[in-house]
Amino acid sequence: MSVDLSIKIGSMVMKNPVTVASGTFGYGPEYADLVDLNRLGAITVKGIGPEETLGNPTPRTFETRGGMLNAIGLPGPGAKGFIDKYLPFLSQYDVPVIVNIWGKSMEDYGKVVEMLDGEDTVSAYEINLSCPNVKEGGSAFGTDTDSFSRVIELVRGKTQKPIIPKLAPNVSDIGAFAKAAENCGADAISIMNSYPAMAINIDTLEPELANRTGGLSGPPIKPIAIKLVWDAFRATTLPIIGMGGIYEPEDAIEFMIAGATAVAVGTANFTDPSTAVRVIDGVERYLVAKGYDATSDLVGTVKA
Ligand SMILES: Cc1cc2nc3c(=O)[nH]c(=O)nc-3n(C[C@H](O)[C@H](O)[C@H](O)COP(=O)(O)O)c2cc1C
Repeated sequence: MSVDLSIKIGSMVMKNPVTVASGTFGYGPEYADLVDLNRLGAITVKGIGPEETLGNPTPRTFETRGGMLNAIGLPGPGAKGFIDKYLPFLSQYDVPVIVNIWGKSMEDYGKVVEMLDGEDTVSAYEINLSCPNVKEGGSAFGTDTDSFSRVIELVRGKTQKPIIPKLAPNVSDIGAFAKAAENCGADAISIMNSYPAMAINIDTLEPELANRTGGLSGPPIKPIAIKLVWDAFRATTLPIIGMGGIYEPEDAIEFMIAGATAVAVGTANFTDPSTAVRVIDGVERYLVAKGYDATSDLVGTVKA
């Protein structure tokens, strides 16, 4: 028996519902010797801003019990560097490329899209409106529905390609942001970014991260993400890309039952780069065992 694993986000067709989470998979080449990139539903690359950036001072990652804290601060090659250095490599694969974009100002988001939009290899934009680790931009736009909406409208005006705002988890009503994304012409939303958090060294009395605070990711945030996806699913008809602590196929299946059309594997890539492929195979096995015809049969089926 075969099952249709494919899903659609706007004009972007993914052959299966599993991508990788931005910032945990480089720009693709870093993982190409470890994973068959053609197996992925999409490759979501590390955040791209308008110019080359260095990110935050070190230490910028810290292992917590069961997860990790990071305050990387969005280092990257900038839009031009990404086009020159990474797009030729990515164009060899038969996989949609979702470019995660960020800006320090609203105009920055528009600028990045203007620079990238002529590139055929770019399939969609994930708009990072939720980075907890940069002083301007990021979550400043993601925790206020007015500026959130204005960034999405601005990006919408610059491209016909699918746009996927990435929502901040630290808001009191995620449904309001999901609805706002829909009203502004987004094609999907992704949930969630890492959760603002902190760890302190009790000998030095200093924070473990040079940035002092960072974002928590990995298994500890999964139940938070599941609830946010479930809340958003009831507020919008947009497809949701769910993420937060996916390590096993069962985690991805749980996200889909909560309402996610697709999922992203993040922190798990650091310990086992083959996680996304394992998740794809496990989701397929589950759908076949349950007698489903397509991924969509599972989405939002929670009895709650
Ligand atoms: C080291 C690191 C870097 C990240 N960089 C980005 C980024 O550039 N843009 C973004 O939107 N999210 C970024 N994230 C957030 C992840 O994409 C994801 O939303 C989050 O980690 C939750 O998923 P996980 O628990 O599976 O890692 C980063 C996460 C980590 C751990």
